[in-house]
Amino acid sequence: MDVAEAIAGRRSIRKFQEGKEVSPADVETIVQAGRLAPSWKNEQPWRFLVVRSVEMRNAIADCLPQGNPAMNTIRVASALIVLLGVPAEGEVHQDKPFWLVDCGIAGASMYLQATELGIATVWVSLLDGPAICRLLKAPEGTECVGVFPLGYALSDAPTKPRPRKALEDIAFFEEYGRSLA
Ligand SMILES: Cc1cc2nc3c(=O)[nH]c(=O)nc-3n(C[C@H](O)[C@H](O)[C@H](O)COP(=O)(O)O)c2cc1C
Repeated sequence: MDVAEAIAGRRSIRKFQEGKEVSPADVETIVQAGRLAPSWKNEQPWRFLVVRSVEMRNAIADCLPQGNPAMNTIRVASALIVLLGVPAEGEVHQDKPFWLVDCGIAGASMYLQATELGIATVWVSLLDGPAICRLLKAPEGTECVGVFPLGYALSDAPTKPRPRKALEDIAFFEEYGRSLA
C-alpha cells in the first residue's frame, strides 16, 4: 500500500473483532510512525503509552462521556496507544499551541501507519484527559491528546468514506476564493 492508498483508504473504525491480538511488533511500528513525525523546532513534545490490560482499558473507557461511540472500542481493543502532549517541551507561537499541532501530526501518522498494516483504529479525544493522565501516572502538566484503540475491523465495519467538503469550497489558487480548477 502506498501513501496515497493509505490516505484514501483510512477510516475511523469503532467495531473490532474481539480477542484478535495486534502483535507487539505492529504496535511498535505504529508508535514509531508517531515518533518520526515532524514537530516545531523538532521539539517532539509527545509521549506514547501502550496499554493492554483489560482493567486499564476499562478504566480509560470509563473516562469517556456517555454517548461517545468509541467507548466500547476501547473496552474490546487489543491495545491502546495513549498520545500525551507535553506543553512544557513545546511552544505557543502567536496564540497557536504548536505542541498540540505537533501531536496532531503524530496522531495522523499513526492513523496512516495502522491503515497500512491493516489495523483498525479511531482517534478518540472526547474524554476526561486529566482523569486518564492520573490513571497512567503521567507527570503534572501532561495532556491527554488522544487515545487510539487498535484492533481488527469487524467485517461489517464501514468502508465508505465519510463525506468531505468539496475541493472548490476549501482550496484556492493565488488568492482566497479564486478557483483552483
Ligand atoms: C482530533 C480527533 C478527535 C476525535 N475524537 C473522537 C472521539 O472522541 N470519538 C469518536 O468516536 N471519534 C472521534 N474522532 C473520529 C472522527 O469522528 C472521524 O475522524 C471523522 O468523523 C471522519 O471520519 P473518518 O476518520 O472515518 O474519515 C476524532 C477524530 C479526530 C481527528
